[in-house]
Amino acid sequence: MRKHHIVLLPGDGIGPEITAVTRNVLEVVSKKHNFLLEFQEEQIGGAAINSTGKPLPDRTLQECQNSDAVLMAAIGSPMFDSLPRELRPETGLLQLRAGLDLFANLRPVKIIPALISASSLKEEIIEGVDLLVVRELTSGIYFGEPKGVIETEKELRAFNTMSYSSVEIDRIANIAFAIARQRKKRLCSVDKANVLDVSQLWRDRINLLAKKNDDIEVSHLYVDNAAMQIVKEPNQFDVILTGNLFGDIISDEAAMLTGSIGMLPSASLSADGPGLFEPVHGSAPDIAGLDKANPLAMILSAAMMLRIGLKEIDAAEEIENTVDKVLNEGFRTCDLMDKNCTELRCREMGEELLKKI
Ligand code: IPM
Ligand code: MG
Repeated sequence: MRKHHIVLLPGDGIGPEITAVTRNVLEVVSKKHNFLLEFQEEQIGGAAINSTGKPLPDRTLQECQNSDAVLMAAIGSPMFDSLPRELRPETGLLQLRAGLDLFANLRPVKIIPALISASSLKEEIIEGVDLLVVRELTSGIYFGEPKGVIETEKELRAFNTMSYSSVEIDRIANIAFAIARQRKKRLCSVDKANVLDVSQLWRDRINLLAKKNDDIEVSHLYVDNAAMQIVKEPNQFDVILTGNLFGDIISDEAAMLTGSIGMLPSASLSADGPGLFEPVHGSAPDIAGLDKANPLAMILSAAMMLRIGLKEIDAAEEIENTVDKVLNEGFRTCDLMDKNCTELRCREMGEELLKKI
């Protein structure tokens, strides 16, 4: 029987509760589709800081490196905001991205018809939106050197460096071209080439690669204009390719087209090692432990893991179709509650899915 070894990282806040529900779904789906999932839970984020003093314990990174895929829930808590940077939960996530060389971050944004009224935008603007943000994840200003704080006699100065090499740009661009080829064959690269040298190199490399990928329609937007176009006419986009910082911002903006960040999955991939799959939303400390969280983004992240990471396509489809079915029947967690719908708690949402698998 096919067997896959999964590291689960429940993390902080609502993480443990959505992880428990997701694991149950995965267990049932894998049985039905005749493969075995071996789960191993490890610590990251605030939970890891509390028990080991480090946001990414060495053991967690090693176990992730040795796995077939990593499924994470969420990290972060206001409790740690005043700690030095190397001890914050977010640093653990950045170390995991670097440690697994997860340079390609895929964040699909697709309008789910049953939830279209959850968006703050007009239905006719967002109807049919199906785009994918491809964000470079292990370079750019998040990791650039030098960085730091300088203290002079007069003042303090802090700085970071936004840098990209041609190799780094090419490898993320090649991923985006390949994905665009399987979609609508349109790729929009987002930069700030009118101001930044790093963006000019970015744009030059994309143009070079565009010649080798001439079946793909390539366009460029400055990031400020892209931010505007995403809310003005989101249907013009298929694949959006951008760097680390712009991708962080643009992907949250694009997520809000759906009105419900509680529904969005993501994948972070390396050239050949295990991928990391996680919901786009955060750890929601305000509702942690109350059984109110929406587990669907993590469950859809598990589906992405099955499809992309483990090549269990049928099982992935089964999860995605079941989520659609449950939503179409009017079941909602409280974040998505609408008139004439049935409100479910986190665990009940999991049970509703299991009834249909
Ligand atoms: C994201 C998050 C992270 C990022 C934080 C938690 C470090 O905002 O995945 O978009 O900035 O990359
Ligand atoms: Mg972000």
